[in-house]
Amino acid sequence: MAPASLDERLAAIAARAHDVARADARQLDDLRTELLGRKAGALTEVLRALPSLTPDERRVVGQRANQIKRELEAAIGARQDELTRGERAAAVDLTMPARTAWRGAIHPVTRVVDEICDIFRELGFARVVGPEAETEEYNFTKLNIPLDHPAADMHDTFYLKPGVVLRTHTSPVQARVMERYPPPIRVVVPGLVYRRDPWDPSHAPVFEQIEGLVVDEGVSFVDFKAAIDYFVHHFFSADTAVRFRPSFFPFTEPSAEVDVRCQMCRGSGCSTCKQTGWMEIMGAGMVHPAVFESCGIDAERNTGYAFGMGPGRIALVRYGIPDIRMLYQNDMRFLAQFAE
Ligand code: PHE
Repeated sequence: MAPASLDERLAAIAARAHDVARADARQLDDLRTELLGRKAGALTEVLRALPSLTPDERRVVGQRANQIKRELEAAIGARQDELTRGERAAAVDLTMPARTAWRGAIHPVTRVVDEICDIFRELGFARVVGPEAETEEYNFTKLNIPLDHPAADMHDTFYLKPGVVLRTHTSPVQARVMERYPPPIRVVVPGLVYRRDPWDPSHAPVFEQIEGLVVDEGVSFVDFKAAIDYFVHHFFSADTAVRFRPSFFPFTEPSAEVDVRCQMCRGSGCSTCKQTGWMEIMGAGMVHPAVFESCGIDAERNTGYAFGMGPGRIALVRYGIPDIRMLYQNDMRFLAQFAE
């Protein structure tokens, strides 16, 4: 190989120092391999060609090649230092936006449930829970609902297996509490219930209820009205009107539904209250003697009242949420709005 062409190759290699000075981290790695790589680096190949030269040529070309090698190594090292310093400087860039930390929040329905139970605790109610998978007996029969009652029909109820359902209301916990504890009884029972309802803006197949139960000697409908007045005035506002409408449930007699003044329009009529000016918040009534009987409570000595309300619906009204499904989709953009 002629020394002249080796000279040209060395000159071209030396000229790459310009590229080294401008390289980013990746390009620098590539250049190191391309020029100085032990296997196929351009400079390595020149050094490999030395044995084919005359001793004089070998000395001149060898010296020049080694000098270029040292220069390139120095240039690459210097550029490497520069890049590292730059990275460190970038790592403490005080103008960089801060990372956002995720903060947890109490779900709006959980918050409503807790507030409701807290208000009833002031009236002496204990908070208890019961199973979501229930027998037909507790979900229906012990509550004076015959199995051929429409509520017990397959259309409303999820069956897990014959005789076992996902509870359609929290009322079966009434029976469980009465069987286990002697009067006086004062409990609230929050929990999930399941119905074969459509999934639309005002229905979900799973939702929360809070059951209430009071059993003692001499409990009357007046006690019930007083407790509900207290609850409404503390949960909504002191000037919120309440009304009791006659209704029917197999497990209470007499039965009532409780309405409060629409919290959206304050009674003038709007789409939330379907122009009635009122919002239904619970079903309720005096415990039916047949229920006392099936739960081993002496119906001669004791009377009681029970109620069941839907904290999910109440959360919709309180926070102005337009679609019940938003409560169950766990969309962080929705939930983050309830962070304190
Ligand atoms: N369990 C009834 C329902 O789900 C509500 C209710 C509870 C009514 C207690 C009366 C007494 O609709």
